[in-house]
Amino acid sequence: MSSIYTPKEGKEFFTPFGPMLGYYRMPPELVDALNGAMSDRLEDHSDNLVGKVSQELRFDQNLINLAARGLGQMLIEYHVRARTRCNFGEYDHTEKKFTLDVMSGWFIRQFENEYNPLHIHTQCALSCVGYLMLPEGIEAEWAEDYQDHHPSHGHLQFAHGTDVHYSVCNFMVKPRIGDFWIFPSYMFHCVYPFKTKGERRSFSMNVTIEEENVAAEQAPLQKTWRL
Ligand SMILES: [Fe+2]
Repeated sequence: MSSIYTPKEGKEFFTPFGPMLGYYRMPPELVDALNGAMSDRLEDHSDNLVGKVSQELRFDQNLINLAARGLGQMLIEYHVRARTRCNFGEYDHTEKKFTLDVMSGWFIRQFENEYNPLHIHTQCALSCVGYLMLPEGIEAEWAEDYQDHHPSHGHLQFAHGTDVHYSVCNFMVKPRIGDFWIFPSYMFHCVYPFKTKGERRSFSMNVTIEEENVAAEQAPLQKTWRL
């Protein structure tokens, strides 16, 4: 059912349309732990992905648990904020139980001249990307690229809809180690190549968040997941 919004103030501006992105700065310990768990023994996941990159290695259960422990709260907060926005504030998360289901996760090991074509993620509601490593010296490449009117080397670009007045249809992300971005799975995105020798390492996960109504006093104590 559509939510009917009635303005509450004498003057308001709001953005009811379009998807929302989430951003979180990962603690260095989580970045180190994920990098430390990266191994060639992980299953090759590239047949299921579109990346033209050296390696895409599937998370095992230990990695999924590690990432869920570190990022689950933020993923659920995205869900709650997006649901609240879509319902114009008429959404009470305090009597709900949220369950995070991580369907899959994988490392993306991208080296010079490699790229990730425009794509979406399927069979999930939410997707995310986090940055774990960058080639030494890429800042010099970026300094040169930023002299151009449209820098993009090694950047992630999201696209949604088409260019219209008073709105934007694309969003460019400069990767930084420790940055973590959340986006709806249907959102088109791509990653551009870079020239500096070395590894640009990121990871992605596909997740769904189930919600269930429970009385606050009956809600099971879920310190990890419950807001
Ligand atoms: Fe992707």
